[in-house]
Amino acid sequence: VPIERMRNFCVIAHIDHGKSTLSDRLLELTGTIQPGGSHQVLDKLDVERERGITVKAQTCTMLYNHKGEDYLLHLVDTPGHVDFRAEVSRSYASCNGALLVVDASQGVQAQTVANFYLAFAQGLSMIPVINKVDLQHAEPERVTEQLLGTFELEDPVMVSAKTGLNVAAVLPAVIERVPAPQGSVDKPLKMLLIDSWYSTYKGVVLLVRVFDGVVKQGDHIMSMGSKLKYIVGELGIQYPTEMATSCLRAGQVGYMYFNPGMKTISDAKLGDTFCHLGKEKEVEPFRGFEEPQSMVFVGAFPTNQDEFQKLEDSINQLTLNDRSITIAKESSHALGLGWRLGFLGTLHCSVFEDRLRQEFGGSELLITAPTVPFKIIWRETVRDRKGEEVPKETIITNPALYPEDDVIRTKVQEIQEPYVLATITIPADPPEFLGHVIELCQENRGNQVELTFFSTQVILKYKLPLLQLVDNFFGKLKGITKGYATLDYEDAGYLKSDVVKLELLVNKEPVDAIAQLCHRSSAERLGRMWVQRFKSFVDRQLFEIVIQAAIGKRVLARETVQAFRKDVTAKLYGGDHTRRKKLLEKQKAGKKKLRAIGNVIIDQKAFQGFLARD
Ligand code: GTP
Repeated sequence: VPIERMRNFCVIAHIDHGKSTLSDRLLELTGTIQPGGSHQVLDKLDVERERGITVKAQTCTMLYNHKGEDYLLHLVDTPGHVDFRAEVSRSYASCNGALLVVDASQGVQAQTVANFYLAFAQGLSMIPVINKVDLQHAEPERVTEQLLGTFELEDPVMVSAKTGLNVAAVLPAVIERVPAPQGSVDKPLKMLLIDSWYSTYKGVVLLVRVFDGVVKQGDHIMSMGSKLKYIVGELGIQYPTEMATSCLRAGQVGYMYFNPGMKTISDAKLGDTFCHLGKEKEVEPFRGFEEPQSMVFVGAFPTNQDEFQKLEDSINQLTLNDRSITIAKESSHALGLGWRLGFLGTLHCSVFEDRLRQEFGGSELLITAPTVPFKIIWRETVRDRKGEEVPKETIITNPALYPEDDVIRTKVQEIQEPYVLATITIPADPPEFLGHVIELCQENRGNQVELTFFSTQVILKYKLPLLQLVDNFFGKLKGITKGYATLDYEDAGYLKSDVVKLELLVNKEPVDAIAQLCHRSSAERLGRMWVQRFKSFVDRQLFEIVIQAAIGKRVLARETVQAFRKDVTAKLYGGDHTRRKKLLEKQKAGKKKLRAIGNVIIDQKAFQGFLARD
């Protein structure tokens, strides 16, 4: 098939508007998969199936006959959620057009808007598709107007991906409205690395888009980013599983293995350009993709320290295919050895947590409350790249590394926290939803940027601290809008903040794993909640246990766990080292997992209960 008869496109949609169902129909229609049942072929990861969300972009090639001529169509499925924005823009880079799928009953939603602008910025030709027209409360006319009013998009294709109604009109629209890829098979090879993953049997798999030239098995090629040289092994198209071909030509998207294979997946730098060895001077490399930044962090510890290795294996297993997760060893006085994990966003974090609990065994794992990076601007200056004096900056992702009070007083200029621009959509009816949402945003230190009415929808834009968002903001938002609200957000940079480090003390000893950086305004409420909650999980002992929440030396809240009985020897027992040691040793042999915080022995179950998120 010549390049004029190729089309590379993706499907973008708000979650649950039917992107995967429509993709499946298109694959059936072209005979790529057998009809019948719900395949959701493109959602390969188990977690995606379970949660019904697409995390990793999957792709598939289709052959389609239009007006007597064969076309090679390439469908790239993209994640619907903004946490995976990097994946989304990567998939766009390999496309020339997009199907913008909108649910006929729900209309334009937060992620429809976000994805539209991302695709628009990439210069993709957009074809609006109104899905679910079979639904009783479908309002295709209203959605048509909305698409025109919001995005200036005309001529939507009306379909029901579920019943198959009018789905046959979609591919002709793609062929007529999406331009063919540019490029020439006669030019030197220029190939973009779009994605890569790890296959247990065959090692690192690369997904590439050939822009110019032809690549075939045995070719000697070079990464223009790393300068590493490779020999091409098997290559081909995904149809929908790997189908080997003799070559990949300009315009095509396909998979590729190297022979010998790439050593680690981290050698596969997404956005890297490949060319034939010796042709480096003739090829202008692509600019490359932005490296995504981790914005949400948690600590993960095994309840039983003997299982540290097992936890490490589980984490390694799960991160094989997701390089956007950052990993560092962490040691906590209260919880022992563990890992600090960084994620792109809140959904990314909770999806991973679920998978880790599944893989490792949920009851054996302690995961600390999510936190965000804080930026410390020091009084000390350093020279930047241009040689100018600028304040030194440090990013802190672990409360344990937060500077002491006197250091902050004498050496720190200011502390900043990350903000996001959140887009929230809610139905305009019932009207009290709007009031509740505004209240929630204000409680969470939000600043209103925009409030727009769109027929039956209200779109609100707020600047919110990311820290507030990781505290189950979405859950609360869903709660006060009966599940109707949608949320999307983008990075809005760091802003000055009044940050404090809140600590939990047990008989005056800080419990490091529980400490959190928070805004001064929420410290007291959080502190009071902490002491009550922790108390409910601590067993009575022979002596009194005092649980406090404090900022530095200032105690904000206090609870006491009474001793079993008034015993003059209680204090003595409590402070006795040999007794404590004996107890710990006894417990080590047994199954129960205990930890000593100062003179108090605490069952790991207490931490488990305390850290469990409802
Ligand atoms: P993400 O992968 O999470 O972004 O979701 P998606 O956009 O891929 O949505 P999906 O295809 O999983 O569809 C969501 C739900 O809508 C499923 O329960 C589908 O069965 C249903 N659905 C999809 N298309 C139609 C349609 O045309 N009519 C009706 N009534 N339901 C549909």
